[in-house]
Amino acid sequence: MPRRLLEIADLQPDELRGILDTAAFFKKSSYRGQELAGKTLALLFEKPSLRTRTTLEVAALHLGGHAVYLDNRQVALGVREPVKDVALNLGRWVEGIAARVNKHEAVVELAEFSGIPVINALSDTHHPLQALADLLTLQERFGRLEGLRLAYVGDGNNVLASLLEAAALAGIEVTVSTPEGYEPPPALMERAGAQLVRDPMQAVRGADAVYTDVWVSMGQEEETQRRLRDFSGYTVTPEMMRIAGERAIFLHCLPAHYGEEVVEEVVYGPQSAVFDQAENRLHTAKAVLAGLIGGRPWSA
Ligand code: CP
Ligand code: NVA
Repeated sequence: MPRRLLEIADLQPDELRGILDTAAFFKKSSYRGQELAGKTLALLFEKPSLRTRTTLEVAALHLGGHAVYLDNRQVALGVREPVKDVALNLGRWVEGIAARVNKHEAVVELAEFSGIPVINALSDTHHPLQALADLLTLQERFGRLEGLRLAYVGDGNNVLASLLEAAALAGIEVTVSTPEGYEPPPALMERAGAQLVRDPMQAVRGADAVYTDVWVSMGQEEETQRRLRDFSGYTVTPEMMRIAGERAIFLHCLPAHYGEEVVEEVVYGPQSAVFDQAENRLHTAKAVLAGLIGGRPWSA
């Protein structure tokens, strides 16, 4: 069975550690290799992207391989032809697929029928590539992951789901603060041993990192008005960062909706690590591709 990264839970703790160590080594050495020489990665995106698409393309290039971006207006996944047929075709031409899909089931189906490694480049329920960059950023800032305290304020969405799975593997203590009705799945909270604290000011007190993401994810645009109302009071502000503490860092997967989940002052402020986080998308993507498609063992 080809390896896959559909969710962080697909990884064993030592594999997660290996990806982070490899990514740190790649970063430190400005690594260029040949793990993907002669190999092609297909990028199949049903939703827009800056970071994920760019970093996967650049990562493939740095490893001697090639990425081909498939415009979903042409492919029309599941519309022009079934996901299964797209998978069966791609499996004949390329050595790996990274897919950003509306429904998580689509990426599962691609993995099931393509016969090649498949990477989830974001689905409605998971964003594993993001969580890897988040952990690398925390590791760099604090020199460790185990026992760190992370407060997530906002929507219990795909980004939080992957973060909780990663936290469970790495021993990070997570406090989640969402309005009623926007909690992540209870099983994920349980797996990470995370606690729910409704009041965001209380949730961030003493945290090493404060994390937020948009209140309206791609595909939820029809719910915008209701969500903006429901999330009122959950904006990450300089005052909230002061309560978290001077040494706390601020994380956001980006893109940010300024004036909603966060204000500009925080993203561009002294506690922000968001552009390191964005940079780390490249190094972690390289580690994933080198291992999953290039067969490089996940250790530094
Ligand atoms: N954080 C992230 O996945 O960004 P993109 O949507 O731009 O890829
Ligand atoms: N939760 C956001 C993440 C974007 C990278 C979304 O799904 O739109």
